[in-house]
Amino acid sequence: MDDRDRRKGFYIQTFGCQMNEQDSLRMADRLSREGYSHVADLRRARLVLVNTCSIREKAQQKAYSFLGRLETLKRRRPDTIVACVGCVAQQEGPRLRERFPFVDLVVGPSHVGGIAELLEEFGRTRTPRVEVSQETGAGSLDCEGVSRQGSVTAYVTIMEGCNNFCSYCVVPYVRGRERSRPYESIRREVGNLVRRGVKEVCLLGQNVNSYRCSETPQRDFPGLLEGLGSVEGLQRVRFTTSHPKDLSQSLIDCYGKLDVLCEHIHLPLQSGSDRVLSAMNRGYTLEHYLKKVDDLRKAVPEIGLSTDIIVGFPGEDERDFESTLEALEVIEFDTVFSFAYSARPGTRAALLEERISENEKRERLRYLQECEARIAARKNARMIGTCAEVLVEGTSRDGRHLMGRTRTNKIVNFEGPAGLLGRLCSVEIVKACKNSLLGRLAAGQA
Ligand code: 5AD
Ligand code: SF4
Repeated sequence: MDDRDRRKGFYIQTFGCQMNEQDSLRMADRLSREGYSHVADLRRARLVLVNTCSIREKAQQKAYSFLGRLETLKRRRPDTIVACVGCVAQQEGPRLRERFPFVDLVVGPSHVGGIAELLEEFGRTRTPRVEVSQETGAGSLDCEGVSRQGSVTAYVTIMEGCNNFCSYCVVPYVRGRERSRPYESIRREVGNLVRRGVKEVCLLGQNVNSYRCSETPQRDFPGLLEGLGSVEGLQRVRFTTSHPKDLSQSLIDCYGKLDVLCEHIHLPLQSGSDRVLSAMNRGYTLEHYLKKVDDLRKAVPEIGLSTDIIVGFPGEDERDFESTLEALEVIEFDTVFSFAYSARPGTRAALLEERISENEKRERLRYLQECEARIAARKNARMIGTCAEVLVEGTSRDGRHLMGRTRTNKIVNFEGPAGLLGRLCSVEIVKACKNSLLGRLAAGQA
């Protein structure tokens, strides 16, 4: 690649959640349409975008260590443009340039839709810019539809931001207040994706069941799901994340009613102790949560359930931690994403005194993960001998099997012809592994 080719080569490094992955895809799509092309080698990039996450301290540190490494690159090639995007950019604003003076653009998450304009302006003025004003409109969410090349599944952002202010969480500060995207725009994007071969969409938002757009107020979240049910060619819909306090009966009823809706829900519990839940400002008790799980299982007995748990929240004592372990034992989640608490700037919990050492947090996390692995293995073993509908998404990590997911969101690997990619197959479960199932294509499927 000579210098002329390098002129519009871009490299994106993404940290954090699915929302960020989605923002990176959107930026890549926009830049490609502006004549930029993606390069796999960082050293060959003229533009480096670092899409950051600040949900936990570790995620932020990872972004900082990557940014730190760019200093040498920038010294060697001063014309390389470095843009720091995302939640750390939003949180730190101008402070980010004090720490990393070589960063040219600091861009908050609600401005990713305008990245091409910001770059164009920088190209003209060569003046560093910090764009972290918080937008309230939903225009920045608009998208024609982006997915990875040949992808069978895609994410679609339907709302952004959060009004819940859980005491440990930085999201309401960095992603701003809730705003939802108009129904028509979501439907159009889903239609575009399906035309491109996507079979399954996952609707994304910090709190999807608060979805309500002022332009289409009659479409609440169940109404949106119902509307998407009639998109021709769309086989499956999922969504994430739901807040337990907003999980309505009408959403639960959708599971029995809408064929397109997959039987899975991600419902973050965070803690099994009412004392801790209250200090976290979660707005429910364990009893309330258990009732929701009961209602869900009444509607769909086999529903897949996943959750998030934080250990070591300030003030969490041994009894609180025990309550969380008991809750995991009783509920039997299929998947648990567990995290050690870290204080985030500006949050209410950051003002609380932390008495739990990092060592103790790590120990609790390790113990919880061990317990959960046992519970999930027990649950997966019960699936052996059953048959499940699997949407084939690609090949397994070792490349020897096809890989797909059940409607309940279990990963299943099985042998089969490559022509099954993108197809729904019936697969018999023959073995339960740690994080996936091994299957056998049911007769007459190949
Ligand atoms: N410390 C640890 N985990 C956190 N999460 C959010 N904020 C924090 C924090 N300060 C976890 C929650 C949330 C998930 C996305 O990240 O479990 O559901
Ligand atoms: Fe954060 Fe709570 Fe909002 Fe989830 S619901 S994004 S944990 S404040």
